[in-house]
Amino acid sequence: MTYNYTNLAPANIVTADVHDLALSVLEGLSGKPKKLNSAYFYDHVGSGIFQQITELSEYYLTNCEFEILRNQKESISNIFNDRPFNLIELGAGDGRKTLTLLEEFIKQGQDFKYIPIDISAKAMESLFERLKDNLDGHDLAVEGLVGDYFDGINACSQQTDRQNFVLFIGSSIGNFNHAEAEKFLRHLWYSLNPGDYVLIGFDLKKDLNILHAAYNDSKGVTSEFNLNLLTRLNETLDANFNRETFHHQGIYNVQLGAMESYLISKVKQTVKVGALDKEFHFKPWEGIHTEYSYKYTQYEIEMIAKDTGYEVVNHLFDSKHYFVDSVWKVRK
Ligand code: AVI
Repeated sequence: MTYNYTNLAPANIVTADVHDLALSVLEGLSGKPKKLNSAYFYDHVGSGIFQQITELSEYYLTNCEFEILRNQKESISNIFNDRPFNLIELGAGDGRKTLTLLEEFIKQGQDFKYIPIDISAKAMESLFERLKDNLDGHDLAVEGLVGDYFDGINACSQQTDRQNFVLFIGSSIGNFNHAEAEKFLRHLWYSLNPGDYVLIGFDLKKDLNILHAAYNDSKGVTSEFNLNLLTRLNETLDANFNRETFHHQGIYNVQLGAMESYLISKVKQTVKVGALDKEFHFKPWEGIHTEYSYKYTQYEIEMIAKDTGYEVVNHLFDSKHYFVDSVWKVRK
């Protein structure tokens, strides 16, 4: 296995991050209703807690997608019929699920290059560790790109001698609202070449009790994930949130078709954010909106694919029909 990564991000990314966080908190906590951007869940601690969420049986999404990739890896591999391709993964994560596909592609003797793209160099390094532990000695070229997804895809799609196969798994698309999801898919379409493929993981609409349990787990891991955002603001922006006075709640919004996460202040209180030199006032039981996790029907998936320039090739379901990995072809 050969592997390396290129840094596409500007060198001042760390300072820019804190600055962006401060501005986002200023905007979010000054608004009505108050909100915080879910992108900020994923600091080092938050990424570790998210990893624990994926191991909970109540958080069915990960197991369902594992089952899909395990059971359908051959049909996924057959898409390329021995033609060379780039396997581009957006938000590389820790690679546990992708490993199933990589092993199958290697077994089938596919001519492919694996190109994980992630904003975090740390995530890229831990992905490489996992690949090294599992695939060392195999004939696999890994060329990671650290930076913005679309900068990475544009770099790949300029080499037109290979088709591209973009993986966007884990229901990450669910954290976008419909307008953002469409914008993202159109941008992806624009960056790819005709005949390229994408595989996107969508969580399906289902029994509300199942959804509720997935986002309000009995061990309190999701609560910790949500509250860690306050710890992050305390540490990074010199804020003084008292986590004990906030309550995590995941609620399904029927009109939006999305689970929403809140941090609800149990008391009337004032919180200071030192880096902004500003105080924010909370009424008792006032909430901070922290996340959307949109759920889809098969029909909604087909509509969004069509509207943003793709042809649906296949829907790969798990046995309970809780989750789908939808395979689309770029139509131009
Ligand atoms: C990363 N993302 C798809 C997860 C989700 O289901 O929206 C994040 C998460 N939030 C609470 N639990 C998991």
